[in-house]
Amino acid sequence: TEVLSYAHTESLPFAQRHGFTPSREVRYSALDLTTAPPMPQAPPGVRLVSAAGLDPRQVHRVDAEASRDEPGDVPTDSLGFDLWRHECWDNPGLDREASTLAEVDGELVAVSLVQRDGDRMWSDFTGTLPAYRGRGLARLAKQAALHRAAARGARTAYTSNHEVNAPMLAVNERLGYRPVDSQWSCRRTLT
Ligand SMILES: CC(C)(COP(=O)(O)OP(=O)(O)OC[C@H]1O[C@@H](n2cnc3c(N)ncnc32)[C@H](O)[C@@H]1OP(=O)(O)O)[C@@H](O)C(=O)NCCC(=O)NCCS
Repeated sequence: TEVLSYAHTESLPFAQRHGFTPSREVRYSALDLTTAPPMPQAPPGVRLVSAAGLDPRQVHRVDAEASRDEPGDVPTDSLGFDLWRHECWDNPGLDREASTLAEVDGELVAVSLVQRDGDRMWSDFTGTLPAYRGRGLARLAKQAALHRAAARGARTAYTSNHEVNAPMLAVNERLGYRPVDSQWSCRRTLT
C-alpha cells in the first residue's frame, strides 16, 4: 500500500508530479583514507575484533539488536538470520577482515560492517546494542574498521545517514567525513 523511493533535490518536482511526498533528507558523506585513520586504542575491558573468523550468528545478533531502532522512514524490522546471511554475510562485497566488532567483557556489543569495491569502501551498517550506547563504542569500531580497510587498499570511504540520526552523524563528523551529496526519501500511498 505504500512505496518508498529516493530522489535528488532537483528531481523532487518530478517525484511530486507522480504523487510522491518528500519525507527525509539522507546525507551521503565521504572520507579520504589516503591519510588513514590510526588504529584506535581500545579502553580497558574493550577488545576490537575482526568479523573474519567469528561465528556469523554472533555478528547477526549484534546487527539485528542494534538495527531495531535505526531512525528512518519505516520502522526497521531486523532481518532474520537466513536472509541476513544471504544479503550481508555471504555478499561478495563484504570485507570480513575489515569489518569490526567491539567486545566488552567478552560480549560483542557494537559492529561496523565494511563493503568494498576496489579502492572504495561503503559502511554497510554501524550499530551498538542499546545498553552500551554513549560510550564511544560505535566510533571505536568504525575507526578500527576504517583503519583495517585502508590497510587493505581502500582509499575513499562512503557512508549515508538520515538527517534525523544525530548520534550517527556525530560519529561520522568526528571521524572526519564530509558531506558530498544528498537525496530525499519520498513516499507515495497506493490507493
Ligand atoms: C548510532 C549509534 C551506532 C551510535 O552508537 P554509540 O555507541 O552510542 O556511539 P558513540 O558513543 O561512539 O558516539 C555517539 C555520538 O553521538 C553524540 N550524540 C548522542 N546523542 C546525540 C544527539 N541527540 N544529538 C547530537 N549528538 C548526539 C554523542 O555525544 C557522541 O558524540 P561524541 O563522541 O562526539 O560526544 C547507535 O545509536 C545505534 O546503534 N543506533 C541504531 C542503529 C543506527 O542508527 N545505526 C546507524 C545507521 S548505519
